[in-house]
Amino acid sequence: MAQRRKIIIDTDPGQDDAAAIMLAFASPDELEVLGLCAVAGNVPLSLTSRNVRIVCELCGRQDMPVYEGAKHPILRKQVTAEHVHGRTGLDGAELPEPTMTVEPQHAVDFIVETVMREPAGSVTLCTLGPLTNVALALQMQPAIAGRVRELVMMGGGFFEGGNITPAAEFNIYVDPEAAAAVFASGIPIVMMPLDVTHQLLTRKDRVARIAALGTRPAQVLVDWLAFFERFDEEKYGSDGGPLHDPTVIAYLLKPDLFSGRHCNVEIETQSDLTVGMTVVDWWRVSGRKPNAMVMRNVDADGFFDLLTERVGRL
Ligand code: RIB
Ligand code: CA
Repeated sequence: MAQRRKIIIDTDPGQDDAAAIMLAFASPDELEVLGLCAVAGNVPLSLTSRNVRIVCELCGRQDMPVYEGAKHPILRKQVTAEHVHGRTGLDGAELPEPTMTVEPQHAVDFIVETVMREPAGSVTLCTLGPLTNVALALQMQPAIAGRVRELVMMGGGFFEGGNITPAAEFNIYVDPEAAAAVFASGIPIVMMPLDVTHQLLTRKDRVARIAALGTRPAQVLVDWLAFFERFDEEKYGSDGGPLHDPTVIAYLLKPDLFSGRHCNVEIETQSDLTVGMTVVDWWRVSGRKPNAMVMRNVDADGFFDLLTERVGRL
């Protein structure tokens, strides 16, 4: 068996974050989850921390270390997305409050300590929310930039525009200064923007296949997706909504599902009109050094085949 890939998941659940975490837990032969780090994003940190632990307990992973990270962005006022994810961030399914506790260590200390302890090039950071924790870890220990194997992130958008403003995608918009620091750090980045995730609609036929699994985790996921997709169905007039965060884990499991281009990406932090925009130099006109593998295409059916098959293992 190929060596398992060591990953840290930094997340702001979020029903789509929950799907990503479930996909990771369902893939123990390929992925060794070293820990889960909660960050403020879709809902405040107290709720993202609660939600991470709800997902762990749903999947029988009470053993998983969960860390709490940043309570708010580096500079700006917190922006949340209850209008999409509901008051708790995991609306749609009624689950008991978690009994597992969080680790005493701060998530940023955990990220730095783990990356500095594990062999160089062996730890992958998977970010599903704002990049605040990773930016703070880089500030604390810049050497992690040269030791992280890859940072695979859901965030940004270019040809597809934004979702929280016309120009910006939510994860970047919440903490643009953090995103700017990460994209300037030299960490090898794989970026899953809206240009990819908007091709991954939770269509009725796809959700029906997950429901047909007949397991409790699958039913909970179906209930979460039913709640999560309603906002985007209304907004885009589509059958289903874009399933964002599982793209990060799917890339680790089946990278050939995706294709893109190594480009320069800069983050707008000055303009009130376009703050949080990921300015992707797709046509390489700027002369700026490429700093991210920007994905643009995905095999949508292959993605949902993978997600469904793996969730069925939980
Ligand atoms: O814009 C989509 C992203 O913002 C997803 O990660 C979703 O969970 C929210 O965090
Ligand atoms: Ca998220």
